[in-house]
This record gives sequence, structure tokens and C-alpha cells, in this order.
Amino acid sequence: MQVKNICCIGAGYVGGPTMAVIANKCPHIEVNVVDVNRERIEKWNSDNLNELPVFEPGLSNLVKKCRGVNLNFSYSVGEKISNADMIFISVNTPTKKKGIGAGKASDLKWVEACAREVATYSKGHTIVVEKSTLPVRTAEVIKSILSEATISDLKNNATKTFDVLSNPEFLAEGTAINDLINPDRVLIGGDNGIAIDSLSEIYKNWVPNHKIITTNLWSSELAKLTANAFLAQRISSINSVSAICEATGADIREVSKAIGLDSRIGPKFLNAGPGFGGSCFKKDILNLVYLSDFFGLKEVSSFWESVVSLNNWQQHRISKLIVKKLFGTLTNKKIVVLGFAFKANTNDTRESPAINICKELLEEGAFLVIHDPKVSIKQINIDLNLKPLEISNRLESNTQTLEGKWSKAFDLEKSFIDADAVLILTEWDNYKHLDWKKISKLMRKPSWLFDTRSMIDPEEFSNTKINFWRVGDGT
Ligand code: UDX
Ligand code: ADP
Repeated sequence: MQVKNICCIGAGYVGGPTMAVIANKCPHIEVNVVDVNRERIEKWNSDNLNELPVFEPGLSNLVKKCRGVNLNFSYSVGEKISNADMIFISVNTPTKKKGIGAGKASDLKWVEACAREVATYSKGHTIVVEKSTLPVRTAEVIKSILSEATISDLKNNATKTFDVLSNPEFLAEGTAINDLINPDRVLIGGDNGIAIDSLSEIYKNWVPNHKIITTNLWSSELAKLTANAFLAQRISSINSVSAICEATGADIREVSKAIGLDSRIGPKFLNAGPGFGGSCFKKDILNLVYLSDFFGLKEVSSFWESVVSLNNWQQHRISKLIVKKLFGTLTNKKIVVLGFAFKANTNDTRESPAINICKELLEEGAFLVIHDPKVSIKQINIDLNLKPLEISNRLESNTQTLEGKWSKAFDLEKSFIDADAVLILTEWDNYKHLDWKKISKLMRKPSWLFDTRSMIDPEEFSNTKINFWRVGDGT
């Protein structure tokens, strides 16, 4: 079956970039991205490409090239489903907040709603592809909803049939377009060879054959969870070693380099930092924990749970040490926070370590001036659940108390005036080239730089009066 019309449900960080790349590489396929969130769809259709709801290097060029040609964004969910011969489900699957499995299992209500919409509106034979990160055996839920549609449709003598495939996304935010164009592998899980071939044919337009691997549905779903769990585990491992380095006089950068040169270990994902963030790692590990508990595998679930505990501990450890270095109190102390996104080159803040660290500093009474090149003031407000102040430096603030408040840094240079500390939380490139000698003159003494991303060369600090702490540096 040759696919001519794709509908992707969910215009988020996964759906948007993935469909932009498919549209670009497959001009013979019409690609429709639909979402119930009208504001989001309007942003995808905005003339101003800086207003796209997802910031991702290279994305706006693809949207500019394909939008209105073979890539369309719309909220006509039913209409686009009924025209499609392949449907990607790319909706959000956050961790459940209440009920059975709360705090661990994924909330599948959006996936289930999609399956019901597909069951209602689809026509003829439709291949349904799970793109969102999902717990193992979700395909079974989708299949059972769709098979009801097949049965009731047959009663009306029409034909409505489905295949369900799992095609997990391995893109990382910030490098999504490159990851999609040059994937390490494309994984397709399913039990019908014809449906698998139809999806493979799409990828073969740009991905070499040997990189497209096929498995059964459950292996594909589990492989996605496990890949993320392994990556997250490496970060917790190196972060745990960063604390040992600080205690013993070792240097985490030297340790990472030495262990990464072992070809069995490899150099990637060995950067110590403020802890991992992003929408996937924590959620996927907690899914594994839930699954292991469900099958009575207590030791397995404790093992994976410790990866998340260590991550929480690393974030808490950083805010605690800042308080300690600033004489045990942050009341009315001004801290400039550089970066709020969970990593560089994205405007995404989901599970960003900045959220917990900033909340703890605010609780201690600090006044935070937060800078991020891509995260909006509205988003920080939502994440901290606290409205910002209109001012950006202490000098303008004589009538207001600044304890436990925050403000966005509109003019970065001015933000450093009278600051007690600078805290680097996201590794944005522009923080690499700050003039620390100049900044040192603006700050209140004794002043501190806390570098959780190992961005700053300590050599640059030898001629400043700023005290310097960086993660994993025991020297
Ligand atoms: C991740 C997976 O990499 C991707 O394959 C999957 O499809 C989705 O989840 P993402 O969360 O977008 O991607 O970003 P990633 O680059 O994996 O970074 C996750 C977090 O780990 C970030 O907070 C990052 O700063 C942190 N990290 C990463 C480290 O602290 N150290 C490292 O060495 C690498
Ligand atoms: P991800 O990072 O997985 O792409 P996002 O939260 O960025 O997650 O995007 C998921 C999108 O899916 C959201 O824009 C949300 O509005 C959309 N969505 C959720 N449920 C439905 C649904 N039933 N029909 C259409 N869109 C949906």
C-alpha cells in the first residue's frame, strides 16, 4: 500500500518537527498536522516564523518551504483523519497525577481520545502509527478501540479496517531536525508485514535500508522506554560521581574523559550537570518502574527508581550548596540565573532542573533575575507558579521587597548590577562569551559564579574577583 495522505494528531515537539521532515523528504505525500489546541495551530500557521510554537534549529526553514505545499496545520481533526491512509499519534502522555499508578504510570487519556477519533472518522483501511512515548502494550488499547469500530462498521456493510504499528521517536530536542534526517536507526514494530513495508517505504526516501529495523510491537515499545532509561542512567551515574569528585579532589571532566575513551563505554552522555530534564526521561523510567512493580519485579523497579531519586538529589544538592556558600541565607540576595530551558537550543522547560532549583532558591528568600534566550516570561511564570516583578535590578527597587521574587532579565548586562551570584543552568552558547572581568565589577562582593554545566574555563576567572564553583570540581 503506497501512502499518499498522512494525518498526524498532535502538533507538539514530536509531531511538528517529524512531519516537517517527512513533508520535505516526501513531496509526493500530503501531510496534515492536526491539534485540538487552536492557539498552537495558529502559531504554526503564523507568517512570522519566529512565532512557531516549537523552537528547533532548522525547523522554520522546513516550515517555510513546505507549508501550504504538502504540509498543512489545522484543527479540523475529523476531516483530516477521514482523508488519511496513515495516521501518526503524537499526543502528550504525561505521568498520571491521580488514581491507579499515580506518579508513575502514563496518563493515556489523550491517546485513547485519539483512537476513538480515528475509529469515528477514518474510512477504508488505515494504518495507525504510535509515535508518542508510550507504556508497553499501549498498542493493545488502541487495537481494541479500533477493532470495535471495525465490527460496528461491518454491521453497516461498510469496510473500516486498521493496522497498528509502533514507530518510536528517538529525536532529541535542540537537534531534532538533524536527528530526523540522519537517524541512528528507525524502529518499526508491528505484526503485519504489508503495513510495516508501507511505513518503511516512507523512511526509505532518505534513510538507508540497513538503518530501518523491524520488531514485534511490544519489543518496539519497550526498546523506546529502555533507550531513554539507559541514557538517563548514564547521567545519574556521572552526576553521582560528580559529588564524589567534589568531595575527594578529583575533576569530573577528567574522569568523564578517561572513562569515555573506553570503547565499550563511549564518550556521549557523560556530562555532569544539574540533572536531566525533558519530557521523556523521568516519565519513561517511571513507566518502567510501574511495569516492573506490576509484574512483581521489585528489585528491578528499585534499580530504575534510584536513577530518578539521584536526579532529584542532584538538583537539591545544587540549591543547598548555593545557600551554604552565600553564608546560609539568601534573603534579599540577588542571583542571576542563566538559562531556564532543560537544555540548550530548545524553548521547552518540561522537567527542567531550573524549575526545582529556582523554586528552592526562592523559598530561601532569594531575588532571582532569570535569563533565557528562548523561554517566555509566561512559561517561567507557569513553571514557578509565581508572577514576575517588573524590575530587573535592585537599584530600581527601593520601595519593594524582593524576598522570594523573580524578574526576567531583559538587559543581561544590567542584570549583573549588584548581584551576589550568577548561576548557569542551561548551556546556551552565548553564555560562553561573557566578559567576566566586566561583570565582576558590577557584582556585590563577595560574589559567586555557580557553573552547573562546566561552561566556563576557570582560567578566565584568574583575573576576576568572583568566587567560582563548578559541578564535579574538587580541585
Ligand atoms: C531524549 C532522548 O535523547 C531522545 O532520544 C528521546 O527521543 C527523547 O528524550 P531530549 O530529552 O530531547 O531527548 O534531550 P537529551 O539530549 O537526551 O537531554 C536530556 C537531558 O539530559 C537534558 O536535561 C540534558 O541537559 C541532560 N544531559 C544530557 C546531561 O545532563 N548530560 C549529558 O551528558 C547529556
Ligand atoms: P510531545 O513532546 O510528545 O510532542 P506536546 O505536549 O508538545 O508533546 O504535544 C502534544 C500535542 O497533542 C498538544 O499540542 C496537544 O494539544 C495535542 N493533543 C492532545 N490530545 C489531542 C487530541 N485528542 N486530538 C488532537 N490533538 C491532541
